Amino acid sequence: MKYPTLSQAFETTDFLLNLEKVKALALTRIKDTEGPADTLVYDYKSPEEELAFWQDQLESTTNSFFESVFKRTTNVQHPNYVGHQVATPAPLTAVTGLVNSLLNNGMAVYEMGMSPSAIERVVTDKICEAIGFDSQSGGFLTSGGTLANLTALLAARKEKVSTDIWNNGLKQQLGIMVCEEAHYCIDRAARIMGLGSKGIIKIPAQDNYAMDTTCLEYELEKARNAGIAVFAIVGSAPSTATGAYDNLEAIGKFAAKNNLWFHVDGAHGGAAIYSDKYSYLLNGIANADSVVIDGHKMLLMPIITTALLFKNKWHTQRIFSQQADYLLDDTQEDQWYQSGKKTFECTKSMMSLHWFILMKTYGNKLFNEYVTRQYDLAKEFEALLRNDKDFEVAVSPQSNILCFRIVKQNWSTEKLNQLNADIRKAILANGRFYLVQTKLKGIHYLRTSLMNPFTELSHLSELVKQIKAAALIINP
Ligand SMILES: Cc1ncc(COP(=O)(O)O)c(C=O)c1O
Repeated sequence: MKYPTLSQAFETTDFLLNLEKVKALALTRIKDTEGPADTLVYDYKSPEEELAFWQDQLESTTNSFFESVFKRTTNVQHPNYVGHQVATPAPLTAVTGLVNSLLNNGMAVYEMGMSPSAIERVVTDKICEAIGFDSQSGGFLTSGGTLANLTALLAARKEKVSTDIWNNGLKQQLGIMVCEEAHYCIDRAARIMGLGSKGIIKIPAQDNYAMDTTCLEYELEKARNAGIAVFAIVGSAPSTATGAYDNLEAIGKFAAKNNLWFHVDGAHGGAAIYSDKYSYLLNGIANADSVVIDGHKMLLMPIITTALLFKNKWHTQRIFSQQADYLLDDTQEDQWYQSGKKTFECTKSMMSLHWFILMKTYGNKLFNEYVTRQYDLAKEFEALLRNDKDFEVAVSPQSNILCFRIVKQNWSTEKLNQLNADIRKAILANGRFYLVQTKLKGIHYLRTSLMNPFTELSHLSELVKQIKAAALIINP
């Protein structure tokens, strides 16, 4: 045989052997959602230790690759996983993940992704409908909220700025308005677009960490007086640190009055459009020009899949078009099926498979139940903490994100900050829970995103116990 290794790589032997291994591991892992098993959520190793392990593994004659990867990663299936905003994926989407890797259609052009392109159209039309957009709307899927927010702002610039920046570069100081509490990727997108610090007009937050919309007129006038051509405003739905929703109705009215593009960063909580109980948080979203919703956050999908939806679908064709005057009219074709023309990516994964399989198998009911359950749980957790004099909650949760800290009478902020930071370290070292932390107005909080659909209040009571125990050890 001329190319024996190549031949071996394409035989079914290794595939089947490893598939069986992964199937067994996956089944055990999926069952981790069933209760507070004795397994750790997180078994911390230092970067050096982890690096040494994998350097050894590559040379080693034993092959425990999949077992090790399962063991040495954070277990998002475990009900004690209450950390970052990453979904516990619905198991069916692990199957679409496998199919995606095997079929490997790159989607940049229609011929290299017939089904996923059409599926993507079906899915994005349905999301537009759920947002409340009309039949003029449309969108696409792209690789993450960060990229989707950048893409939306590029669309905004194309639409609202009359000069041809795409071809001639920036000639004036442009600006966008966004709450100071927004996710950092908005700031990053603006800087990538050449807006600089001056072009990021940070709107102060109210006490509840949502945008103070009473400042908008003043801030716009100030920016315009400083020669900044403001072209867009971004509402967070919600912002990341505290999960506070901006008032989209107020922002939409302000945008319409001042001819600004209205973008909603719903990467985390745009999913609440599906919740009968909580969709009111997104009142006004249908007035947005563009909306971002991550499937891999609050829609139970694997990393990475994001929907970017536009009220006017023609914008999807214009974002990266080379000619400034290019505008599709009725005689021109709507090339919704040519992904590469609309998205930042050229090659893109068949992420639409995840959305479709969940929509088809469970319908919007799945998303309704999931979002509602998780948002309810955050409120129950808040009540539990507020009934305990040892804790303080930063702000009542509007979503499934809750920030809180342990408090002690007559302690300075610095001392309390240190204690809460040390508690977080201790919890991680212990590995029974995975939670994160954030700083709000100089105060260090522990932060939970209740992502796992099997986390119960009983798990959170246990977390509270562990936090108290850790506090006692740190400060006997
Ligand atoms: C509000 C918000 N926007 C955008 C992002 C970035 O999304 P992604 O991680 O998909 O790039 C995040 C991530 O946490 C977020 O919370």
